[in-house]
Amino acid sequence: MSNQQPILQLRGISKSFGFVQAVKNVNWEVYPGEVHALVGDNGAGKSTLIKMICGALLPDSGEILVKGANARIAEPVDAFRLGIAPVYQDLALVEGRDVVMNMFLGDELTHGPFNLFLDHKRMAIETQRVLDEIHSRIPNVREYVRRLSGGQRQAVAVGRALIRGGEVIIMDEPTAALGVEQTREVLNLIETLRSRGKTVIFISHNILQVLQVTNRISVMFHGEMVGTRKTSETNEDEIVGMIVGTKRDVLAAQE
Ligand SMILES: Nc1ncnc2c1ncn2[C@@H]1O[C@H](COP(=O)(O)OP(=O)(O)OP(=O)(O)O)[C@@H](O)[C@H]1O
Ligand SMILES: [Mg+2]
Repeated sequence: MSNQQPILQLRGISKSFGFVQAVKNVNWEVYPGEVHALVGDNGAGKSTLIKMICGALLPDSGEILVKGANARIAEPVDAFRLGIAPVYQDLALVEGRDVVMNMFLGDELTHGPFNLFLDHKRMAIETQRVLDEIHSRIPNVREYVRRLSGGQRQAVAVGRALIRGGEVIIMDEPTAALGVEQTREVLNLIETLRSRGKTVIFISHNILQVLQVTNRISVMFHGEMVGTRKTSETNEDEIVGMIVGTKRDVLAAQE
C-alpha cells in the first residue's frame, strides 16, 4: 500500500483552542479504497482533525495534500470539490422533509425555463439509484426522515455524500447511538462503500467494530498521532494499549 499515492496526506497539522492544543503536529496518510479507522480516547483530537480535513476548521499550521497536490481547504465547499465528504455525528438531516429532499438539500436539481422548477422526478430516480447502490433498505424515498431508523438515516447521509461526488467518506462515530441491528446496517454500509472503491475514514470507540471492518487503524493520544497498524497484523490488546498506553506511562511516572 505504501508504494501507492495517498488520496489524503497530512503534514505537520496542528490546532489549538486557547491553551488547549487539540491536535499536535500530525502526519497522516490515507490510501485510496481503504477503510481507515481513527481511534483514541475522548478528547484525543479525532473530531478536530477531521474537521480540518473537511474545511469546518482551519489548521494553525501544516498542510493537507489530496492525491499528491497541495489542497487549500478553507471551507466545507473546498473539501467537497476535492471529493471529501463528511457524514457528521448529528447528521444534519431535516426531519420534516422526505428522503429525496434531504438527499439534494441546498443542491436541488431543476428544469424548465431559467431552471425555475424543481425536477422532482429526476431527484427521486437519482435518490433511488444511490440508495440501491449502497443496498439501503429504505422502502420509500418519499418517507419523512423523522420516520426513519438511525441506520436508515445514516444511509441517507452517506447517500447525500455520494450524490455530491464524495470519494473520501468520513464517518465520525456513525454507530454511537445505534442498536445492534442498525449498527450492523451501518457496518454493512461501510463494506459496500469499500466494494464500490470509496475511501472511508471511520471514527469509533468500538474497537471490535473497528477490527471487523477496517484495513488500517490509526491511534491518537492527547492530540498526537501515535501510530498506524494494519488491521490484519494487530489485535484488540495492542490497539487498546496504544489508546491508553502513554497515559499509563504518565501515571506510572507520577507515582
Ligand atoms: N471548539 C472548541 N473549542 C474549544 N476546545 C475544543 C473545541 N473543540 C474541541 N476542543 C477541545 O479539543 C480537544 C480535542 O477534542 P475533539 O473533539 O477533537 O476530541 P475527540 O477525539 O473527537 O473526542 P470524542 O471521542 O469525545 O469525540 C478536547 O480537549 C476538546 O475539549
Ligand atoms: Mg469526536
